Amino acid sequence: MTWQPNSWRDFPIKQVPDYPDADKLARVEQRLAEQPPLVFAGEAQNLQRQLGEVAQGRAFLLQGGDCAESFAEFSANNIRDSFKVLLQMAVVLTFGASLPIVKVGRVAGQFAKPRSAPTEVIDGVELPSYRGDMINAMGFTEDERVPDPKRLLRVYEQSAATLNLLRAFAQGGLADLTKVHSWNNDFLKGTAEAERFEELASRIDESLSFMRACGITPETARPLAETDFYTSHEALLLNYEEALTRRDTITDEKDWYATSAHMIWIGDRTRQPDGAHIEYMRGIGNPIGLKCGPSLDPDELVRLIETLNPDNIPGRLTLIARMGADKVHAGLPPLLKAVKASGASVVWCCDPMHGNTIKASSGYKTRRVSDVMAEVRGFFDAHDEVGTYPGGVHFEMTGRNVTECVGGVVDVTEASLGDRYHTHCDPRLNGAQALELAFLTADLLKQRRDGGIGLSEAV
Ligand code: PEP
Ligand code: CO
Repeated sequence: MTWQPNSWRDFPIKQVPDYPDADKLARVEQRLAEQPPLVFAGEAQNLQRQLGEVAQGRAFLLQGGDCAESFAEFSANNIRDSFKVLLQMAVVLTFGASLPIVKVGRVAGQFAKPRSAPTEVIDGVELPSYRGDMINAMGFTEDERVPDPKRLLRVYEQSAATLNLLRAFAQGGLADLTKVHSWNNDFLKGTAEAERFEELASRIDESLSFMRACGITPETARPLAETDFYTSHEALLLNYEEALTRRDTITDEKDWYATSAHMIWIGDRTRQPDGAHIEYMRGIGNPIGLKCGPSLDPDELVRLIETLNPDNIPGRLTLIARMGADKVHAGLPPLLKAVKASGASVVWCCDPMHGNTIKASSGYKTRRVSDVMAEVRGFFDAHDEVGTYPGGVHFEMTGRNVTECVGGVVDVTEASLGDRYHTHCDPRLNGAQALELAFLTADLLKQRRDGGIGLSEAV
């Protein structure tokens, strides 16, 4: 079947907003199509190469960021704080894995949310569900909830500004390894995670002094002074993706690329084999992700892989398992076995967030850090059992000191959820909880590397 950036329009689609004014929507799509790309094909290819290393067990993927970016929380400080925590997590993981860490943010485009119901009813009033700032606003009024196409332009602008800042952070000095001590955010100071991190930072200092004595400095060795940082989001609104799909003019292949981000993924609710989202994603040259929830049948997964990565290119496809702590032990091994038996090259990444969302008695949507940890452990166990490589982790997190997930070393309790609950969708790990998860993952990686005790013996 011939593929075009708009061929998805002939397929059944889920999770599309109901725009009241189709002409206005078409005008916005046209405006978007006239905008410059946010990323270049060459960058997406670099990420795919690095993910190819992950697929072959020679690198590890760290993907993280907000559940949903928002217009209200947009600020340089927020972007900087999340970036710093991701850098800290990457350092922790580098020590654990002794492997390069591929860093990918859920950022600069992560604005649209799939919802379980198209409408919400409060006190007998029914309005469209909030679907992310890309579509409508959170307030429960008709005015705010009716989808407005102009928001797509604002998302493009905010993504461009965010990406610009991230590029500056990654290459302009903040990621310089000699600054490793400055990555601790103020609110982390004094916590057990910050102290553990300071220990690592001191070891890095010592190594850098040694290397300086040998003539290797950030001035002479680029990897010490800067880092590669990539962007990703769920490709939910295909009209936005289509408008930013461009032909690569630099390489010989002249393939089509999504230029809204380096990597985009397909959500668990929109992965129907004959649906529009699979159709769009199969045709772009970027590395892509596919969320794998407990309802995914192993044979169907193998068929999806054949559609999405027919040439079996390592790094092209990342399978993001999000089973839930209670389902991962029974649910994940059959998927791992089926993919292994098919011979497909994939990156297996663990999203321990989306299968572990609960409602606190106070009504807040939350997650227990202990469940998140249990799913990461279960993910590693499943790979040990099947003999496959646990290639990465995917977290909903922020650098800020929010109170959205309960537990962790700096104990957030159900009663304190209301203190700083700022998320526009799902509850995120705060900076300390995110670092805690990085230490846990690093320990698991280290155990594997040392060939030491399997996890079940360790606990
Ligand atoms: C998400 O990653 O925010 C999300 C909605 O995940 P999933 O598709 O796995 O439910
Ligand atoms: Co989410």
